[in-house]
Amino acid sequence: MIYVDNNATTSLAVDVALAMSQAYESAFYNPSSQHQAGQKARRRLDDARETILNSLGAVTTRFASDRLVFTSGGTEANNLALFGLGKETSGQVIISAIEHPSISEAADQLTSRGMKVRVLPVDGNGVVQFDQLDQWLTEPTRMVSVMLGNNETGVLQPIQEIATICRDHEVPLHVDAVQGIGKIPVNFRALGASAMTLTPHKFHGPRGIGALVLDDRVTLKPSMFGGSQQLAMRPGTESVELAIGFERALQLAVEALPDAGPSMLALRDRLETLLTDLIGEDEMVIIGRDAPRLPHTSNVAFPGLDRQALVMALDMAGVACSTGSACASGSSQPSPTLLAMRLPEDVISSSIRLSLSRFTTEPEVDEVASRISNCVKHLRQG
Ligand SMILES: Cc1ncc(COP(=O)(O)O)c(C=O)c1O
Repeated sequence: MIYVDNNATTSLAVDVALAMSQAYESAFYNPSSQHQAGQKARRRLDDARETILNSLGAVTTRFASDRLVFTSGGTEANNLALFGLGKETSGQVIISAIEHPSISEAADQLTSRGMKVRVLPVDGNGVVQFDQLDQWLTEPTRMVSVMLGNNETGVLQPIQEIATICRDHEVPLHVDAVQGIGKIPVNFRALGASAMTLTPHKFHGPRGIGALVLDDRVTLKPSMFGGSQQLAMRPGTESVELAIGFERALQLAVEALPDAGPSMLALRDRLETLLTDLIGEDEMVIIGRDAPRLPHTSNVAFPGLDRQALVMALDMAGVACSTGSACASGSSQPSPTLLAMRLPEDVISSSIRLSLSRFTTEPEVDEVASRISNCVKHLRQG
C-alpha cells in the first residue's frame, strides 16, 4: 500500500519510538510526585517543554517567557484557545471560513451560547480575505483564530498581515499551525500570533499529545478543572513519555526541513504534472493551485466522478488517500472549505486529497500517479 494521507496522520519515526520506549522505562514517574524519581521526571518534562518552545522560535528568557500547554492533541488545543483565550469574557470571536472543525464547530458552540462569531471569507483559491478585519475589530473582540495552512488544500494564509491588524487592536490571534510544522519553517514570534496549536502526530511523532503555545502576555482560562498541573491551565497528570516523543519528533522535523521542504515540494509538483500529463488538463482541477501552498498537499478534482467512489477504487488499487479532512471523510457532506471557496459543485464532489511526508519517495509518487490515472479512466468508462 502506498500511503498518501499524511495530513490525517503520519508514521512514527524510528528514533522517536526509541526515545519514547527509553522514557517509558526510565521516566514513567508522576512529575507531580515529591520523591526524587518524580522530580527527575518533572525536570525531563520541563526540558522537553523548553526544547519544543526553542525549536518553534518562542522566547524563553528569564525576563519574558512564552509558555507551552500540553494537551491531548490538536483538537483539544484548538478548543482550549477558542474557549479560553483573551482577557475578556464577552465580546465577539472571529474565525475564518476554512478552519478545521475543532475551531469551526467549537465556534458553533459559542454561537449557541449566545456569543457573536464572525467569519472571514476566502477567495476562489482558498486564501482568507481580511479587508473587513480592521473594521470588525473596532467592536469588543475576545480573540481571532486563523489557520496557517489549510488541511484540505494546503493553501497558506496571510498570518503576519492578520497578526499586525490584531496587534493594533490588542486582540489576541490564535493560529492553528497543525499542518505547517515540519513542512515550512515556523517561527512563533515572527508569525506575530499570541497562541499557536500543533501536534506531533502530523510530523512523525506520537498521537495523544499536542500543545498550545502562548506568548508571555496572553491570558488563557482553563476548560478543565481539578489539578494544579501546567499552572492549572490544563490540569491532569502529564505524560513525560509523550512529551519526550513530541520533543524528538520536532527536533527531527526541524533538522530535516532544509532538505525535506524542497524535496516534498518537488514530489508534489511531480505528482501534479504526471497526473496532468496522464489524465489531461481539461479533465482535472488542481485546487488552490494559484495560491502559495504547503509543499506536501495536493487537492485534485476529476469533475464527473464521485470522490467516495474514487477513494474506494484507489484503496482497492493500493493507494491510501482521502476525500478531505479525516474527520469529514466517510461522510457525504461536501467540504465546508471547498464550499467557502465557491468552487463548482462537480469540482467539490469529485475532489481527493493527496498528502505526502518527508519519507515519501519518487517511485511512490510515480506509482500513485499511474494508479490514479488508471482508476479515473476506469471509472469514467464505467
Ligand atoms: C488543521 C488541523 N487542525 C487541527 C486538527 C486536529 O488535530 P488532532 O487530530 O490531533 O486532534 C487537524 C487534524 O487533522 C488539522 O488538520
